[in-house]
Amino acid sequence: MNILEIISKKRDAKELTKEEIEYFIKEYTNGNIQDYQASALIMAIYINGMNDREITDLTLAMAYSGEVLDLPKFGTAIVDKHSTGGVGDKVSIILLPIIAAMGVPVAKMSGRGLGFTGGTVDKLEAIPGYKTNISVQEFIQNVEKIGISMIGQTMNLAPADKKIYELRDAISCVENIPLIASSIMSKKIASGANKIVIDVTVGKGAFMKTKEDAQKLAEQMVRIGNLAGKEVICILTPMDQPLGYAVGNSLEVIEAINFLKGDMPKDLKEVVLELGANMLKLAGKGENIEENKIRMLETIENGEAYKKLLEMVENQGGDSSYLEDTTKFEKSKYISAVVTEKIGQVKEINAEKIGELACYLGAGRLRKEDKIQPNVGIILNKKVGDMVEEQDFLAYVCANDEMKLREAERKILEIYKIL
Ligand code: URA
Repeated sequence: MNILEIISKKRDAKELTKEEIEYFIKEYTNGNIQDYQASALIMAIYINGMNDREITDLTLAMAYSGEVLDLPKFGTAIVDKHSTGGVGDKVSIILLPIIAAMGVPVAKMSGRGLGFTGGTVDKLEAIPGYKTNISVQEFIQNVEKIGISMIGQTMNLAPADKKIYELRDAISCVENIPLIASSIMSKKIASGANKIVIDVTVGKGAFMKTKEDAQKLAEQMVRIGNLAGKEVICILTPMDQPLGYAVGNSLEVIEAINFLKGDMPKDLKEVVLELGANMLKLAGKGENIEENKIRMLETIENGEAYKKLLEMVENQGGDSSYLEDTTKFEKSKYISAVVTEKIGQVKEINAEKIGELACYLGAGRLRKEDKIQPNVGIILNKKVGDMVEEQDFLAYVCANDEMKLREAERKILEIYKIL
């Protein structure tokens, strides 16, 4: 078997065998297949697709490319969560401490930014000292000790996905059902939970732009999960405008901290409660979704959820004084308010365009080796439905480069549709 034959088969829209898929994953993970060859194959998959059998084989090969955790010591209550990605999506940083504070063990492996979307790992790393690259043993010990650990993808868990994920980001092959389904489900299988809630985002700021595509992706992930003996619930959530107000790594962490201190933007609150209530149900901690939401709100109001976030940050080497006083987060060199001359109501804030703008400012990567700037991004002041008076602020731009600041100000005025 050789990689050139496999690439040309998929280039010609033929079906790959299980052995060919396993060969590619094994040899790419080992470094015997080059990035340029893997790029060609990934692009061919992107263009010509895969059938259900190929997607399942790809998922399992990626899941078993490293260690597969066994978490029976945490009992049947352990429930994992993942999102298909969005703009301003800081849900995991808010939701998982709430769930952990309610007695559900959380062992969460997250990704970095992908395409125009942000990644939880990049956001957590905006907290000075917070270690996302701890060993698998430490990860499990943390869950045993305090009930929660959130880490990045180590080279031990689904390493093939880690390599392919970075490659897809750098070759513009992100928005694709076989590649997204296998990426997410391989990580979930490797990280050991038997019950998984997946937030399938849909809209302008999601990889799935239509409900039909989001539904197809959801069905694909449920099918793979069932084949692997996992209980999977997918929840479709809207992602036309950014979620909450902040887009950019430390800016989103600050919004997440404030949420747990009681300042909850409406759209973000709805998503957090819906996903969390379903996680609690799967964990056997309450059949009634509405009652679960009320208990989640109580866990925020009594400070337990915030305390759990503090505990997790401290336990992973982070400086929790930044949580206690968020003004300590380093500010970007320039912060400017974007003022509009228009009067009316905000009809649209295209989340993909805001995500691309945040990347342009330095919040995301254009090449896989790029370093992100944690303190840049955009803070919306007006959301869809808000009324705008003359000279109102639409948003704040946080930038470290004056030329980029000016360009972003100009773009924000274009992105906001006010009628
Ligand atoms: N999240 C992932 O983990 N993988 C994808 O491909 C998209 C979102």
